[in-house]
Amino acid sequence: MRTIPQWLAERCVIYVGTNRVVVEIISLGLVFKFPIIRLIALYRSVLGFVRGTAFVPFSRWFSYPMESEGFLGFRRLVFKGVMDNWREYWFCLVERHSFAQPTYFSFFGLVNIQLRGEPLVMDQWEFRGQLQKFIEERVLYSDAHHFTSINNFCISDGKLRILDYGSRKTQNIIRERGMCVYQNFQVRVN
Ligand SMILES: Nc1ncnc2c1ncn2[C@@H]1O[C@H](COP(=O)(O)OP(=O)(O)OP(=O)(O)O)[C@@H](O)[C@H]1O
Ligand SMILES: [Mg+2]
Repeated sequence: MRTIPQWLAERCVIYVGTNRVVVEIISLGLVFKFPIIRLIALYRSVLGFVRGTAFVPFSRWFSYPMESEGFLGFRRLVFKGVMDNWREYWFCLVERHSFAQPTYFSFFGLVNIQLRGEPLVMDQWEFRGQLQKFIEERVLYSDAHHFTSINNFCISDGKLRILDYGSRKTQNIIRERGMCVYQNFQVRVN
């Protein structure tokens, strides 16, 4: 008899991103994105301040923007995954951009349902080389976290699409250059 973990393993694949856990249900052709809410890190940070062992002043720690680099600040630890989910959904709803993998539903950012895409199998350097033909290098590397990782892209209907587009910076680049990439990027399946 199969155990519940075995049964689940046959039906879904789980990815752990920086801010979200993604459950891919292959038979449904969908993925479910859940935000990571770092309560333990939050607790440790608060404890650090209370004990006087943390270096960053409390006020700064509260005012760090959600987009700050590294895991700094209360808002980023708690809300970044929720906001990424919500912005991804809103961007899809309003823009309906062909380059963005469709997000069908969001429950206030606590869970998103997105169309599953096929993983992009391509040499990393070839991938970056092609992207640089359509997006100016300076712009591309201004959002290196999203645009230099092949894992943030997928193939859908034979076209390259971006599946991680919750950040404002990423959305601006999609607005400016997304259609050019969508129309011209050559997806080669090895
Ligand atoms: N629509 C999708 N179809 C297939 N796989 C997906 C999809 N969305 C996400 N994934 C997988 O889950 C991983 C994490 O998703 P995503 O990049 O959206 O989360 P994140 O927390 O924002 O990640 P990052 O670490 O890039 O900040 C992706 O790298 C990809 O492998
Ligand atoms: Mg990602």
